[in-house]
Amino acid sequence: MSLTRHTVKGVVAALCAAAVVLPLGACGRDEPDLSNGKAMFVENCGSCHELARAGTAGTQGPSLDAAFQTALADGLDRDTVQGIVNKQILHPRKGSIMPPGEEIGVTGDDARDVSAYVGYAAARKGDDEGALATAGLAQAKSGEQIFTAAGCAGCHTFGPAGSTGNIGPALDDLASAAGDREPGTSAEDYIRESLTQPDAFLAEGFGNAMPSYEGRLTDEQVQAIVDYLLQTGGG
Ligand code: HEC
Ligand code: HEC
Repeated sequence: MSLTRHTVKGVVAALCAAAVVLPLGACGRDEPDLSNGKAMFVENCGSCHELARAGTAGTQGPSLDAAFQTALADGLDRDTVQGIVNKQILHPRKGSIMPPGEEIGVTGDDARDVSAYVGYAAARKGDDEGALATAGLAQAKSGEQIFTAAGCAGCHTFGPAGSTGNIGPALDDLASAAGDREPGTSAEDYIRESLTQPDAFLAEGFGNAMPSYEGRLTDEQVQAIVDYLLQTGGG
């Protein structure tokens, strides 16, 4: 007996539904997990690519908002964007500084999740909502990841993060300057205060455009940011 492609697919689907043990990956997940995709994007792609909804502002690669804006406006559908991104992750141009997904652990369902998130978010106005709003941040651990995932990069220039935001002051000299901002306040306490009560003291020449991160960052994340800004600042 010979099976057509169609029936083979049907058989696999039936086995998956019945939870028969199959080789890993034969069933996969049905729907892409956008929260995972966003978190992995922030961690693995955001240092090189701007994507406003993910709060990333990398400049070594093209802005992914700008890259797809015109085509989307001209009617390109978002599934096609997802397909383009997936291809790019798995097979970047030879010689590109962009590492292939395999090298950075973005493969299979993860690559699909990242692609689906970029397909969803590219050049889309507004902010992510619900679980997606905190997806990147919840999993960010290192100072650099948090800086990107919390959107600091969009407003602040900071050399080690490769960010060029200019809504707030550049943070490159903070390690030497932070201790002198408020009399009697150490550099570390000053940065903590900047995060949790940004209105308490405004850097000269700036308005209070900075959102409070009170309750949005865990104690560990605040500490990681403080260490990140202090140890690498000035460089
Ligand atoms: C080290 C920096 C770097 C990292 C990390 C990186 N990229 Fe790239 N990416 C680039 C550069 C540079 C290009 C420009 C094209 C080239 O070099 O071939 C690019 C191109 C792209 C493009 C094509 C854009 C267009 O205009 O067509 C997409 C999509 C993309 N990257 C997505 C991603 C995703 C998703 C990740 C994370 C899994 C990622 N990149 C990680 C540097 C990076
Ligand atoms: C929407 C823009 C915006 C975002 C997002 C933002 N900031 Fe700010 N930030 C500002 C502005 C404006 C100021 C200056 C006014 C003030 O001191 O509150 C500032 C001030 C600061 C200062 C004091 C700098 C100095 O020279 O005294 C620090 C430190 C700081 N931000 C760190 C961060 C970190 C870390 C993040 C991310 C967790 C972040 N900011 C997110 C806009 C922003």
